[in-house]
Amino acid sequence: MTAQEIRKAYLDFFKARGHSIIPRALLVPQDDPSTLFTGSGMQPLVPYLLGQEHPSGTRLSNSQTCLRAQDIEEVGDNRHTTFFEMLGNWSLGDYFKQEQISWVWDFMVNKIGLDKQRIFVSCYSGNAKLGLPKDTESAGIWHEIFTAEGLDAKQVEIGTQEQGSKHGEQSGRIFFYGDKNWWSRAGRPEEMPEGEPGGPDTELFYLYPQVKHNPAYGAYCHINCDCGRYIELGNCVFMEYLKTAMGFVKLPKRNVDYGGGLERVAAAAIDDPDVYMISLMQPVVNLLEKLSNKAYASNTTPMRVITDHLRAATFLAVDGVSASNKEQGYVMRRLIRRAVRFAFDLGIEQNFIEDVTNKIADIYEPDFPEVALRRHQVITSLSKEEKAFRQTLRKGLRQLDKLAKQSSISGQDLFTLYDTYGFPIELSTEEIYSRGLKLEDSWRVQFDKAMERQRERSRTASKGEFKGGLGGHGDIHKKYHTATHLLYKALRDTLGDTVVQHGSNITEERLRFDFSYPAKLTKEQLETIEDIVNAQIKRDLIVAWAEYPTAKALNEMGALGAFGDRYGDRVKVYSMTPKDSNKPYSLEVCGGPHVEHTALLSEGGKRFKIIKEESSSAGIRRIKAVLA
Ligand code: ALA
Repeated sequence: MTAQEIRKAYLDFFKARGHSIIPRALLVPQDDPSTLFTGSGMQPLVPYLLGQEHPSGTRLSNSQTCLRAQDIEEVGDNRHTTFFEMLGNWSLGDYFKQEQISWVWDFMVNKIGLDKQRIFVSCYSGNAKLGLPKDTESAGIWHEIFTAEGLDAKQVEIGTQEQGSKHGEQSGRIFFYGDKNWWSRAGRPEEMPEGEPGGPDTELFYLYPQVKHNPAYGAYCHINCDCGRYIELGNCVFMEYLKTAMGFVKLPKRNVDYGGGLERVAAAAIDDPDVYMISLMQPVVNLLEKLSNKAYASNTTPMRVITDHLRAATFLAVDGVSASNKEQGYVMRRLIRRAVRFAFDLGIEQNFIEDVTNKIADIYEPDFPEVALRRHQVITSLSKEEKAFRQTLRKGLRQLDKLAKQSSISGQDLFTLYDTYGFPIELSTEEIYSRGLKLEDSWRVQFDKAMERQRERSRTASKGEFKGGLGGHGDIHKKYHTATHLLYKALRDTLGDTVVQHGSNITEERLRFDFSYPAKLTKEQLETIEDIVNAQIKRDLIVAWAEYPTAKALNEMGALGAFGDRYGDRVKVYSMTPKDSNKPYSLEVCGGPHVEHTALLSEGGKRFKIIKEESSSAGIRRIKAVLA
């Protein structure tokens, strides 16, 4: 079966079992600032998993396009991709473990024709400290299925990844792991914020006996080993818990959240552990072979990276993203640049993205009408970025000319070329050798160290992205938070001291501010308020904070607080002060965080704009404003 046939078979299978097929969500989440991309099929469904009624019923299914930018460095092996389709089915308080496990088995074995001997599973071993029980129910269901099929079904306690490599498979079929078999958007139970749903899961793995265990990944192989001998095909999450301040409680309804990688199932169906050989990708690989006049067998890494990255960039463009220096646009830019850089490894130095994108569009058009619809724009957008990057590469070459005057070139120099100029290291070294220049002996170590520091920074950044979204600490959040203080003060400057804050809310798109005031604001008043805020942004006030006894802060210093807020003995006070003065413009009790100085709010030529003024409740007005 081709991947396209498998996608269709899956949706038909679940349709026949009472599921509504819902449309895929865009790669860029619409109402969820907590994450840059849709990374799993359940993400757009969180409100429904938490209990809200879904208009399409209690049984849902689709194939969700996903992007996991955090996996960008892993791409190059036989199974990791940043872009993939997740085959999903959901029960919203409807069926549970018995149906889910039997159906996924039936689908994999009877519809796809996978070899049942080679299917292995994992279940949750529980967490006594958190009151989360071992999932013996799922293991029992698996046990019945395997024995009915005449397969051995030994259950083995593994625990952690490390214990897995230490003790190996031990002839088991059903394996218990700890955190590996708990699923939530935020990861382990301890890492979940309050209000987040999660649950134990059971995962299916497919054994590729033709792949030899690689001891670099541990002494022995086990189903969660990263050597590539076992590949995870799907994950049934039994989402029945909610994290609260009091620990874990049961959700009002028991849900199922299943996600399986279409590409991986398609690879299993052709018994090839290399996902790049499936019908959605092999034509792209073949085109790269033709363009470079090189064989995939001896150039697997660059061909895999290019294929993955351009698929991802194509779908980003289809979903409305264009390359830029921030957020989704930045990831798109990185994907395209990496593709161009790896094309250099293949000796492709001419513009090639148009050809490749055309091929990708050919593959997806029949099943995704939006690809057909936007084909022209997508190709133009990707090719434009490619051409711009080739210019950047030329600048990198000029930088190399400058470095050529030094007596030797260090690993840090190469890293700067790579990081600032997007200049591929292979290209740098090649240039350096061909010009007869000298590289410092330890350049490789220096380069790897700089690279590792960079990775660490981006790991921290992408972790912060998720947490920041939930907790409100992202960069744009800080800006809106600072703008909120300026707005509060400007409101009081314009409307007088009856204005008291009654609530505020910030997303990546806007700020919202509620305050007491008896009448609708006039157009003139709104303009005055905007002008004041923009003037204070332009004055570039310095933002600082210090702690004070609460009474002093509120009564003596006159720091603003919000209506109904209760404070302890001491509070943190944020001040925003002109550079040439020691008299703060704004003084407010607040936990932060904020930007360091207000001019940052006008970065990129942005201005503070009020987009809405309305009544929120009796005597309370609501303002929504943006930096745009
Ligand atoms: N939401 C689950 C996952 O992403 C199915 O693995």
